Amino acid sequence: MSPFSKPVEHQCAVFVTAGPQRPVPMSDVVYRPEAPRDGAAIEAIAREAFGPGRYARAAERVRELHAACATLCFVAELGGEIVGSVRLSALRNRDERAVMLGPLAVRPHLKGRGIGKALLRLAADAARKQAFAAIYLVGDSPYYGLLGYRVAAPGRISLPRPVDPSRVLVLEL
Ligand SMILES: CC(C)(COP(=O)(O)OP(=O)(O)OC[C@H]1O[C@@H](n2cnc3c(N)ncnc32)[C@H](O)[C@@H]1OP(=O)(O)O)[C@@H](O)C(=O)NCCC(=O)NCCS
Repeated sequence: MSPFSKPVEHQCAVFVTAGPQRPVPMSDVVYRPEAPRDGAAIEAIAREAFGPGRYARAAERVRELHAACATLCFVAELGGEIVGSVRLSALRNRDERAVMLGPLAVRPHLKGRGIGKALLRLAADAARKQAFAAIYLVGDSPYYGLLGYRVAAPGRISLPRPVDPSRVLVLEL
C-alpha cells in the first residue's frame, strides 16, 4: 500500500455523508501529494476554516513570502472530494534548513476523525526525508503538542507580524 493511500487510523467503522445522502466510510480517505488541479478546492477549504481575515495573520504573510514546496503539500480526499489539506513552505535565508507549516485545514463535518493528525504526520515525514531540520508554525499548542510540537525559543524565528509567542511552535525533525 502506498503511504499516501493509507486509511485514517481507527476509523474503519465511521461513516459520514459526502454529498446528498451518500455514505462514505472513513477508511476510504486517501492521502496524496497536492496536485496543481487541487488549488481551488484547497483555497475553498482554507476560506471555510479561517474566514476572509486569514490574510492578516502572520503565518499567512510568511507564506506569501515563501512559496509552498510542491513536494511538501498533501491533501486528504474522500469520495473524490478534497476534505483536508496541509502545506509547507521552505524558509530561506536561515542558518537551519526549516519549513513553515500551514495552512492546515479539515472540512468541518469531518473534524475529529484523525485527518488533521494524519496530514501532519505525512508532512513531517516528507520534510524529514528531504533533510529539513525543523517545522515551524503559528497555532494552538494543545493540538500540535499531540504530535510533538513545542513552543519555540523566543527569537528563534522572526515573523512579519506580532504574534503571541506561546503560539509559535516548532517540531525538531
Ligand atoms: C485544527 C484542525 C486542522 C484539526 O483537524 P482534525 O482532523 O479535526 O483533527 P484530528 O481529528 O486529527 O484531531 C482531533 C483531536 O484534536 C483536538 N483538537 C482539535 N483542535 C484543537 C485545538 N485547537 N486545541 C486543542 N485540541 C484540539 C480534538 O479535540 C481531538 O481530540 P481527541 O482526538 O482527543 O478527540 C481542524 O479542526 C481545522 O481545520 N480547524 C480549523 C482550521 C484551523 O484551526 N487550523 C489550524 C490552524 S493553526
